[in-house]
Amino acid sequence: MSLMIFDHPLIKHKIAILRDKNTPMKEFRELVEEITLVMSYEAFRDAPTRTVTVETPLETCEQEMVAEKSIAIVPILRAGLGMVNGVHKIFPNARVGHIGMYRDEETAIPHEYYCKLPDGIENMTAILLDPMLATGGSACDAIDLLKRRGVKRIKFMAIIGCPEGIKRVTEAHPDVDVFVSTCDRQLNANCYILPGLGDAGDRLFGTKCRPKCDERLKSLDISVRLH
Ligand code: PRP
Ligand code: URA
Repeated sequence: MSLMIFDHPLIKHKIAILRDKNTPMKEFRELVEEITLVMSYEAFRDAPTRTVTVETPLETCEQEMVAEKSIAIVPILRAGLGMVNGVHKIFPNARVGHIGMYRDEETAIPHEYYCKLPDGIENMTAILLDPMLATGGSACDAIDLLKRRGVKRIKFMAIIGCPEGIKRVTEAHPDVDVFVSTCDRQLNANCYILPGLGDAGDRLFGTKCRPKCDERLKSLDISVRLH
């Protein structure tokens, strides 16, 4: 098992903006993608490569390229979708599977509602994506599902984690490589991460109204033009 918690000033800088409740949706989305891209460099340090022949203007040489078809990107819906482009920027030909999970608001227990994985995923390295690792229930269930489908090489990448979630995933799945950009302090009574960034899905997709932002749009008369 490997656990990597990033301690990098450039990631910390982006996370600080991501946490800010006044960061607008577009910037939030861009930051999630950028942080994922940076984390991917470390997560794929051991990516399988194949040898190709390249002709430079001066001579022919043998080079290594990543075998992209051996990688499956698997976001946990919804919030994991925000991370897909970050990995696709590096591996544009990687296939994508989707696992739909939602947490019950009362119990924080995850429920699976959708699953569509690429054919042959059992022979690929699956990179499972979810920006938030809170209780760890969603990540554990998604990893269980991938294993039931025969996937043998799994990496899990989250942007914000906490001690409770990291402990649960690494204990339940010691064979999975876990990458978390930041480990926050703790969960609150509603199983939200503190200090965290709030509800990642809502902030990525704008599904909760933000009164301050709506007021600002009104004052600029932008909302009228947007409709
Ligand atoms: C959030 C988040 C994770 C999960 C983390 O999703 O994106 O999937 O909660 O919590 P856990 O570690 O306690 O399982 P949510 O269920 O709110 O669904 P959403 O992405 O559709 O908002
Ligand atoms: N899901 C989120 O989106 N945020 C949290 O803090 C916990 C679960």
